[in-house]
Amino acid sequence: MKILTTVAEWNDYRGSLVQGNRIRALGFVPTMGALHAGHRSLLRQSQQENSCTVASIFVNPTQFNQAVDLATYPRPAEQDLAMLRQQGVDAVFTPGYPDLYPDDYRYRVSESGISQRFCGAHRPGHFEGVLTVVMKLLNIVRPDRAYFGEKDYQQLHLIRGLIAAFFLPVEIRSCPVVRETDGLAMSSRNRRLDAQQRRQAARLYRALKNGSSPRQVRDELEQAGFAVDYVEDFDGRRLAAASLGSTRLIDNVPLG
Ligand code: PAJ
Repeated sequence: MKILTTVAEWNDYRGSLVQGNRIRALGFVPTMGALHAGHRSLLRQSQQENSCTVASIFVNPTQFNQAVDLATYPRPAEQDLAMLRQQGVDAVFTPGYPDLYPDDYRYRVSESGISQRFCGAHRPGHFEGVLTVVMKLLNIVRPDRAYFGEKDYQQLHLIRGLIAAFFLPVEIRSCPVVRETDGLAMSSRNRRLDAQQRRQAARLYRALKNGSSPRQVRDELEQAGFAVDYVEDFDGRRLAAASLGSTRLIDNVPLG
């Protein structure tokens, strides 16, 4: 597995693949690391659909609206590389901030509708950071297909919109939510939950799946001790965000 740490290194590597006629199709899985089975499902789907798969690991500071969340975001670099190697990924792109943000974030991609709702209403600037870094990564990596999880449904929706709005030449592929055996959606932030919170956390999915209305799901979560940001129906899904202590969880299920 090739590890490319700068844009220049990535460009050289991509050039060598093209020259050697070694990419029929390039699949790309952007991540912030702390990799788990949810990420693995994206990698697997990319490997099935492309001759070459590259992942990126970059904890994108511009999408964190809280400094402590950024500071405490898990960064198990060695474990992540081992997992990617074991998965048979061809290359991993691990740029630094100055590389991705030569402009120091003076230039941004913003969306004025959906990004202001749901998670966007509770995390000011979050989706601006996400859309900006995704646009940068897609322009650097230049994949044929890029893979995103339904776990972050609003993010997926906005990225599809970004591709359409700017005519970006990439196919967006999505993968279903991967869950723990008790239903909790896998997330890098789950490792912050203590044992009791971890047991409680599975109620988010159960409430979403069984609730008759957003109102009822909210009531049930509040009774179970969650601080609820929102529960709302959107685009054929029921979406929710709620915190246990300082850990914010999001999830969604298809409606009907
Ligand atoms: P991250 O949270 O690391 O997630 C990377 C990708 O994995 C996203 O597309 C996310 O939806 C997907 N994913 C995470 N947990 C999943 C699960 N349980 N089941 C299925 N897919 C899952 O999302 C980001 O990083 C960032 O916002 C990023 C797009 C990389 C931009 O910085």
